[in-house]
Amino acid sequence: MYVCLCNAITDSQIKAAVSLGDSSLADVKKRLGVANQCGKCARMANEIIQTQLDFE
Ligand code: FES
Repeated sequence: MYVCLCNAITDSQIKAAVSLGDSSLADVKKRLGVANQCGKCARMANEIIQTQLDFE
């Protein structure tokens, strides 16, 4: 599922970034560019990151 439409970034890519060691929205932003344009995806991206961190 696409989370960030501006950059065509999916939830799977965000989860994979957390698996590689990212632990915050800032980390995933740096790695993938999520939320670096309109910012509308920031909240959902953050929720996915937090859920994935709890899971790992
Ligand atoms: Fe992610 Fe616009 S949807 S920056």
